Amino acid sequence: MYEAAGACEDVSSDFADAVRAGLSQPQKIIPARYFYDEAGSILFESITRLPEYYPTRTETAILTEHAGAIAALVGPGRAVIEYGSGSSAKTPLLLTPLQAAAYVPVDISGEFLGQSAAALGALFPALPILPVVADFTQRFRLPAGVAGLPRLGFFPGSTLGNLAPMAAIDLLRGFAALLGPGSWLVIGLDLAPGSGKSVATLEAAYDDAAGVTAAFNLNQLTRINRELGGTVRIADFAHRAVWNAALGRIEMHLVAVQDTAFTAAGETFSLVAGETIHTENSYKWTLPESRLMARASGWVPTTAWTDSDQRFAVHLWQHDAGAMQP
Ligand code: TRP
Repeated sequence: MYEAAGACEDVSSDFADAVRAGLSQPQKIIPARYFYDEAGSILFESITRLPEYYPTRTETAILTEHAGAIAALVGPGRAVIEYGSGSSAKTPLLLTPLQAAAYVPVDISGEFLGQSAAALGALFPALPILPVVADFTQRFRLPAGVAGLPRLGFFPGSTLGNLAPMAAIDLLRGFAALLGPGSWLVIGLDLAPGSGKSVATLEAAYDDAAGVTAAFNLNQLTRINRELGGTVRIADFAHRAVWNAALGRIEMHLVAVQDTAFTAAGETFSLVAGETIHTENSYKWTLPESRLMARASGWVPTTAWTDSDQRFAVHLWQHDAGAMQP
């Protein structure tokens, strides 16, 4: 049962402001949320199938193996709220054992959301599917259809790692507030390099041989040209992904391969050869760091499942009822 999308936020009107502000800083940036126009969302789905990009298939394998255990711990009849649902590819793994009472996919790309919600509706004809077009880092309302239902948040793909640490904690606190007492959160978090995973494995996941991640990154510039009347010479830029050990994150940049200048959104910008536009971070955490994040944001970590190579972790957190402490 699939109903048309609810409240629609206008997410593209501030693109010009964000680009003007981001490209005026000493370290130029383009906020990563603008990756996900329709072309970007499709490219991103291709990233998830790349041989180098281990997170998707590792997380899928963990969920396939342990969804039954998760369902046994949280019980049936919950509304499942998925943050950044994209193609909802991993969702069926959970929905079936969970015996979900409703599914609320939340995504910034409205067109994409509509398509995936319709496809999922065909798989689960009896399940109420209530999509919400929203940037989940901003406040949004749950659809009226989930009122009174116990809730389970689903936040796969290590998407949390794309936020700065303080924003990540704010978001997790927001989840706790929105989902409320009695709720649970299933969250996929990529593991920091260490015993199980080398830095080379990690960097390759963000700089694949086929150049799909490069195309995804460069699409930000294409989008500036198309939507903001930009004159960016795309060939003047190259994709770069690098592990920043001190900050515990993979960084993606667009590097100017020669001096270059362009106009966009009515302003002129220039870069010297070697200068970069920082476009994305992907934080990685050890298991103890993940548990600390949970406790700092209104959640109690219960179980975490990892693959045998210790590349990725799926965590089950319980809403912190805030009982009196000694
Ligand atoms: N959150 C995932 C990750 O950081 C997916 C992702 C977000 C991603 N932005 C990306 C993957 C850019 C590759 C490139 O791994």
